[in-house]
Order: sequence, then structure tokens, then C-alpha cells
Amino acid sequence: MPQTVKGVISRSKGAPVELTDIVIPDPGPGEVIVDVKSCGVCHTDFHYREGGISDDYPFLLGHESAGVVAEIGEGVTNVEVGDFVILNWRAICGDCRACRRGEPWYCFATHNASQKMTLPDGTELEAALGIGSFAEKTLVAAGQCTKVPESDPAVVGLLGCGMMAGIGAAINTGEVTRGKTVAVIGCGGVGCAAIAGSALAGAGTIIGLDIDEKKLDWAKDLGATDVVDTKGMSEDEVVAAIQERTGGFGADVVIDAVGLPATWRQAFYGRDLAGTVVLVGVPTPEMELTVPLLDVFGRGGRLKSSWYGDCLPARDFPMLVDLYQQDRLPLEKFVSERIGIGDVEAAFDKMAEGRVLRSVVEL
Ligand SMILES: NC(=O)c1ccc[n+]([C@@H]2O[C@H](COP(=O)([O-])OP(=O)(O)OC[C@H]3O[C@@H](n4cnc5c(N)ncnc54)[C@H](O)[C@@H]3O)[C@@H](O)[C@H]2O)c1
Ligand SMILES: [Zn+2]
Ligand SMILES: [Zn+2]
Repeated sequence: MPQTVKGVISRSKGAPVELTDIVIPDPGPGEVIVDVKSCGVCHTDFHYREGGISDDYPFLLGHESAGVVAEIGEGVTNVEVGDFVILNWRAICGDCRACRRGEPWYCFATHNASQKMTLPDGTELEAALGIGSFAEKTLVAAGQCTKVPESDPAVVGLLGCGMMAGIGAAINTGEVTRGKTVAVIGCGGVGCAAIAGSALAGAGTIIGLDIDEKKLDWAKDLGATDVVDTKGMSEDEVVAAIQERTGGFGADVVIDAVGLPATWRQAFYGRDLAGTVVLVGVPTPEMELTVPLLDVFGRGGRLKSSWYGDCLPARDFPMLVDLYQQDRLPLEKFVSERIGIGDVEAAFDKMAEGRVLRSVVEL
């Protein structure tokens, strides 16, 4: 029987989100219904509300979650009812050209539930990143559920998006290893996660840079060995600040967790010769980049983007939960506040004002 539960939807561009009834169909083949226990408030939810992702309103928002498997459809074998899971937006297909060549973290045909959740009048809801978990229950593809050791859902659920994006930008995309020097531009949730990931990997110098001074305290707390307040600095001054802290050379890996042409250029010139730039902040369509091509050639190295931290949920989520439980990854520090399902709109305001690393809805 379809079930009616509460969920947070975005009905039209820019309008405040609404807590309303949503209808969850019975799980079909390969689908799972999850009792949602937590959902972090991510920038991407706000982008959906603002029309920055698509125009397919109404959206069921939320995607950074942990929960418990409530029902499984036909043919589901990777999880059982009662399993504690983190939801992911990379249920790999195993069959696309990326998967076939052994690079499944780029999978171009990831799975979501085939059926749609709806409003009581039958209007289909577009689930944010194929998840839609600012809701008491949600319907996903089985592969979107990764079983992990039981933990505080509000904390480990953050691995479902932003924290994985940041940690993975460092350890998967940037290939930060022990002794490397790292600079992270933008110390919000994603940048601080990149800092924590770099610390976990044994990086030597880890420089956190932000134009908002209070973010630098969070950066230090999460493992930055140096911080720089870049407010009012020119691009050259930012580059010089990174070089000063890395023997005059620049960092081995520079992670741009903002996503502006200016911050990307700071990353490009702030890295050592043959170093790596990782772009994890998401630019907007009108942004363009100008860099002398000779500098691209002459400085060598790798210019990479990081989608979801190049993660493989089945490999990375259980490993990171394990490290958190061993007190080696301070994931709990990313939870700035625990809120109710009716508080998402207020959490967007706090996010815009830079007052939180993460607000997390508990259900
Ligand atoms: N690639 C992915 O898979 C992925 C996943 C999740 C989020 N993201 C993106 O990562 C970015 C960061 O997300 P977040 O949740 O950390 O956001 P956030 O707002 O918490 O953090 C952004 C930080 O950048 C700082 N900043 C802004 N302009 C700056 C500048 N010129 N120089 C230095 N610092 C500057 C802000 O003060 C803030 O601390 C966003 O663009 C988000 O969409 C990417
Ligand atoms: Zn694939
Ligand atoms: Zn997200």
C-alpha cells in the first residue's frame, strides 16, 4: 500500500520550501524504502530551490542522509530490512563505458528508483540527486543504500554528500598522501572536509584559506597547520601566501572548494611545478577562465575536477565510518546544529550567512 509521510518540497523557483504530505509507492523491483533518520542541509538543495539545477518543480529536497531499510522490492540483495545505511547518489551501473574500463567512480549511468514519489494529487516529485530525504521515508534504488556500522546518523549521514566530496577531493582526486603539502581555498563544509581528509592521509603542511575569518577557526580545528585570511588580498598575494608556507614553491596539491575563476587561478599558480589542482567548488554557467596557455604547458602537472570526491560508496563509506568510530576522523565536528524537519528554510539562511558548517535535520 502506498504510504503518506511528511516531506520538504520546493514548489516553485525561489519560493520558501514547504513541509507537506508526500506519497511513497510500494518498492518495485530493485527499489528500497528507507526510514530516514537524518539529512544534512547542503548547498545543492538550495540550488534546486533557486532553479539552478533544473526547472522540474516540484522537487523533494534533501540528499545527505542515513537511515534504516524499511522495505525492499523484488530482487534486492545488497541490503535487508533493518540495515543501517547511508544514502548515496552514485549507484554505479557496472555497464557504462566508464564502469567497463574500470573507472566506476565516473559512472555515467547511475541508478535511481524507477518510480516517482508524488504529492497526494498524483503530481510527480523530482527527488534531489535522486534521493529526496528531507522526508520521514524515501524511495531509492537499492544501490543507493550502503550498509555501514551503526553510528549517530546525523554525523555519518554527512558522508552521503558534502563530507565525502571534500574528503574524496583530497584523498581520491588529489591523491594526497603522507608528507604532501596541501592548500585548500574556501573552508566551508566541503573545504574543511578536504582539510580533514588531507590530515587523515598524513599530509605535511595543510593551509586553509578563506575570506571569512571565522571559517579559519574551523579549518584549524579540523587539521589545518596554517590558515590565511584572504579577505581583500589580490590573486598574487594569495599565491604568495601559499608559497611562503611551502618553502617558496607552492603546494603539491591545491583544492579549490569555492569554484570561481579567481580562486581557480589562485589554485593554479599556488601549486608547485607539476602539482595538482582539484576543482570541487561548482561554478555557475556564466563563469569563464583566462589563463596563458604557455603557463598551462610550462607548469605541468594535473588539472582535475572532483565529482562527489571520486568516491565509491561501497568502498569509502564503511571505511570512513570505521575511522570515525576509531576517533581518527572528527566527522562530528561538522554538525553545527541539529534541527527539525520544519526548519530547513531557516537553515538555508544560516548557510547563506556562513554561520554553520552543517545544519542536520533529525527525524
Ligand atoms: N564537486 C562536488 O561533488 C560537490 C559536492 C558538494 C558540494 N560542492 C560544492 O562545493 C562548494 C563549497 O560547498 P560548501 O558546502 O563548503 O559551501 P560553503 O558556503 O560552506 O563554503 C564556501 C566557503 O568559501 C568561502 N569563500 C567564498 N569566496 C571565497 C574566495 N574568493 N576566497 C576564499 N574563500 C572564499 C566562503 O567564505 C565559505 O567559507 C560549493 O560550490 C558546492 O556546490 C561540490
Ligand atoms: Zn556505469
Ligand atoms: Zn549535497
